[in-house]
Amino acid sequence: MTITGNSYISRANVNLSLKAQNKRTPEYVDVLIKRRIERLTSENSTVWTSPDRNRREYAHRFFQYPAMMVPIVQKNVIDIIKQINPTIQKVIDPFMGSATSLVACMQNGLNCYGQDINPLSLLIGKTRTGPYYVKAIREKYKELISDIENDKSRVIEAKFKSRNKWFKNNVSIELSRIVRAIRQEPRLAIRRFYWVNLAEIVRITSNDRTSTFKMHARALDEIEKRNLSPIVEFKTHLLQSIEDLELYRQLLLKSNQLSKGSYKGEIQFSLQDSSKKIITRNNSNNFYDLLVTSPPYGDNKTTVTYGQYSYLPLQWIDLCDIDIKANNDSLRTTSEIDSRSLGGKVKKLNFDELNSLYNKSQSFKDVHEKLKSIVPDKADKVVVFLKDLFQVVEKVFEVMKPNSYQVWTIGNRTVGGIEIPNNEILKDFILSKGGILVTKIEREIINKRMAKKNNSSVLMTTEDILIFRKGGK
Ligand SMILES: C[S@@+](CC[C@H](N)C(=O)[O-])C[C@H]1O[C@@H](n2cnc3c(N)ncnc32)[C@H](O)[C@@H]1O
Repeated sequence: MTITGNSYISRANVNLSLKAQNKRTPEYVDVLIKRRIERLTSENSTVWTSPDRNRREYAHRFFQYPAMMVPIVQKNVIDIIKQINPTIQKVIDPFMGSATSLVACMQNGLNCYGQDINPLSLLIGKTRTGPYYVKAIREKYKELISDIENDKSRVIEAKFKSRNKWFKNNVSIELSRIVRAIRQEPRLAIRRFYWVNLAEIVRITSNDRTSTFKMHARALDEIEKRNLSPIVEFKTHLLQSIEDLELYRQLLLKSNQLSKGSYKGEIQFSLQDSSKKIITRNNSNNFYDLLVTSPPYGDNKTTVTYGQYSYLPLQWIDLCDIDIKANNDSLRTTSEIDSRSLGGKVKKLNFDELNSLYNKSQSFKDVHEKLKSIVPDKADKVVVFLKDLFQVVEKVFEVMKPNSYQVWTIGNRTVGGIEIPNNEILKDFILSKGGILVTKIEREIINKRMAKKNNSSVLMTTEDILIFRKGGK
């Protein structure tokens, strides 16, 4: 595990900043953050790998979203930044996924804003961040289950092409009984909690293989032999989630972040392409004090197909319960969400566009040269992904306050045997916008279920947590 800064925080700068101790210049604050992270690393060598983490904490098990970050790792970084900058209030995650970083921010009382292109991400986020009506949910459990068990209808609620390929008939019938019972619940927050649990049950009872993120049906004989009852699975999973929700409620209660079962701070999620816009209140610039995020490491199709992975669960959920902007357009095909994601639309960049990216990052230019000569057919995809990532960086810089901090967790991958240095390229992009690298933590990825290898892409087993400050006034 290593921690490095860039030349910006050289020894000379450290000494200079030490003299300015009482002035709390932004440079001095950078030094404090870097030092605190170094201290934590030297006190506990596994602090960033966190091998003994508790997966129940932070309501982390409702739905197994791909590439979930480790809440406690994010929390350690956030705690340090917040302790050194107590005035920080508003945090944004433009690739919120299952909202791990925002959930980790809640114990610090931050106002949390998240966006993602995948409706399932919003559903998980909205459920993990409360309100925490645990008592009501516990009381209603029996009623919900008896509604499900007393429903003898064989009408199937999900209507989409090839449903019979992905679900056995008896599985569809049971899932439909759960859907109808959920619809009877009048409170939206409770319905969402049920939906997210149903999503996990759809994932494990469909004919899709759970070993890959891409949709890939099991062999027919295996499907024949499988005898899972969605109702039985739902009953067990729901009980486990209720206990996890209670655990997280207690954690928030202890840190005095709850009022009548709801988070005291602000929580807002948007279904939004982050390369087009980062949402703020009244469209104001300079809005956020902190960014904590983990972007995809390449286009979804060759890395993690978040969209395909979510396609079947979303077919069974009333999308209007997730968000006003969620609708069936995102389920037009199994790859619609993936094509809307970063790098999802392959096109050739023109000369000027390419040169402009080269000027932002020498690492990008170097790797593009290699790709063009060794795997020319794969080069365009990588370029489009990185161009989209740069657009997100541009949008991010519009909405972050001067001297605010950004925590980016990012890993490299290889394409056709060539390593794509996402970490270096992202760093170059951010420096090109006037950002300053404060420090870098390299962490091993343990237990992170990643698509280690598919046809064209390999993901690494380490990733970097890069901490930047937006320079300027
Ligand atoms: C690495 S995951 C985030 C995982 C998250 N940190 C967690 O712990 O669950 C990346 C996320 O970026 C989202 N994404 C991809 N392209 C996007 C875009 N253009 N705008 C917004 N979100 C996007 C994906 O849907 C996915 O949820």
